[in-house]
Amino acid sequence: MFENISQNNVYKNLINGKWVEAKNKNTIEISSPVDGKFIGKLQALSKEEVDEVFEGSRKAQKAWADTPVNERSKILHKAADLLEENAKELAKILSREISKDLDSSLSEVVRTADFIRFTADEGMHLEGETIGSDSFPGFKKNKVSLVTRVPLGVVLAISPFNYPVNLSASKIAPALVGGNSVILKPPTNGAISALHLVEIFNAAGLPAGVLNTVTGRGSEIGDYLVTHKLVNFINFTGSTEVGKHISEISKMVPVLMELGGKDAAIILEDADLEEAADNIVSGAYGYSGQRCTAVKRVLVLDKVADKLTALVSERVKKLKVGKPEDGGKVTPLISNKSADYVQELINDALDKGAKLVVGNKREGNLVYPTLFDHVTTDMRIAWEEPFGPVLPIIRVRDIDEAIKIANESEYGLQASIFTKNMDDAFYIAGKLEVGTVQINNKPERGPDHFPFQGVKSSGIGSQGIRYSIEAMTRLKAIVLNIK
Ligand code: NAP
Ligand code: G3P
Repeated sequence: MFENISQNNVYKNLINGKWVEAKNKNTIEISSPVDGKFIGKLQALSKEEVDEVFEGSRKAQKAWADTPVNERSKILHKAADLLEENAKELAKILSREISKDLDSSLSEVVRTADFIRFTADEGMHLEGETIGSDSFPGFKKNKVSLVTRVPLGVVLAISPFNYPVNLSASKIAPALVGGNSVILKPPTNGAISALHLVEIFNAAGLPAGVLNTVTGRGSEIGDYLVTHKLVNFINFTGSTEVGKHISEISKMVPVLMELGGKDAAIILEDADLEEAADNIVSGAYGYSGQRCTAVKRVLVLDKVADKLTALVSERVKKLKVGKPEDGGKVTPLISNKSADYVQELINDALDKGAKLVVGNKREGNLVYPTLFDHVTTDMRIAWEEPFGPVLPIIRVRDIDEAIKIANESEYGLQASIFTKNMDDAFYIAGKLEVGTVQINNKPERGPDHFPFQGVKSSGIGSQGIRYSIEAMTRLKAIVLNIK
């Protein structure tokens, strides 16, 4: 099924219905973060080729918008079926490309098929409304506003390395079912997996140009893409640094942004500490901490801190560390640069007196799961997003100190509260400046029809299937004036 997307390990781009090589032959070499072995090469498209991509996308979008939504929906269902049929093959590619453990890789692909199916059905209910004029003072019954939802046009989808399949599809599918065309700029680390996903949409019957791709380093081609005159919407998931840059240069183009996070797990005195420890460890060290919704700090009431730290520590020590193909759950990070940054935060915490409970061991870009206790707010690890397997435990006197520290973060993605007291849970949840509060569960984006949003430096707008469709369509009113 994927024979067209590459030749001699050089991956092409889907441009207006054809898999093509870049004219300038500029390529980017991709090696596996697991063992440094060569995986393939990506094309670095030129600005002229990007123009061709946009022109084709704009042209195709007109006909796609006129395609009945039941036909658009049928193609998405076909894509979901094809994805499911190829899930194991794609999961292996993804695991090697981004060093994700095998279970999580397969889960990402299967979850994406479910995502696409749910989107295909949700898109069939893009209802509007009719509004009569006489409900407003002074008006008679002589006007009716017929309100519908229409597509925005060309959606530029930019996805991150840590979910190259799911977080590409989470933009592509809602955009397509809403009648938009899509240009996908996949992450350079993860592009090969994303291009396989694109071929699945292509094979499902998308008309030429409705889904195009642009590979190339975001730092080189990104600004040209984002400021292109034919962009009608930018759907970005990635770092806060890049997100802020995009929002500065995108001017009047509407955006949906899911950015960084520093999700806190707040542990009250009456919490079920075993349950809390299970959630903290899976939340903090899943995919080696490379998840925006990872638990990135624990705020625990002094009274139960010793017990909780001991329970977390015993679980961390049991985590399997190593390559995905060897069953590793904590695997090599996406790059040595990422590992260097994590090590910097570890060293800073040690220098400032944090108590090392587990870890501080590194082999290349493999960072062993690391746990600190007695972290204080003068340490960088208390505030920065490591995007790695390191967790700070911060002890607090009371609930209000926990809320204060939680809200002092520049980020506001999710937070978790562990307690049996629902009055306390809702009191805290009401005060937290985040997009989502989990009660007695780790932070997480799923299920994917839930609204998912970040505030402050964690994002703009809401993702989640219906919310993404609404974000990538707009209202159009036709007013009937009755004589
Ligand atoms: P990143 O470095 O910001 O890259 C994200 C995407 O943006 C990649 O496709 C990247 O391309 C592209 N890009 C880079 N510079 C660009 C520019 N100037 N203009 C346009 N596009 C540009 O993020 P990442 O390392 O892939 O992912 C990790 C970060 O994303 C973390 O901060 C994490 O918290 C965040 N994240 C958030 C969520 C969420 O749902 N809130 C989900 C996942 C990840 P290249 O790969 O070619 O650089
Ligand atoms: O970082 C990816 C973000 O979307 C989190 O997804 O499902 O791991 O909570 P999830």
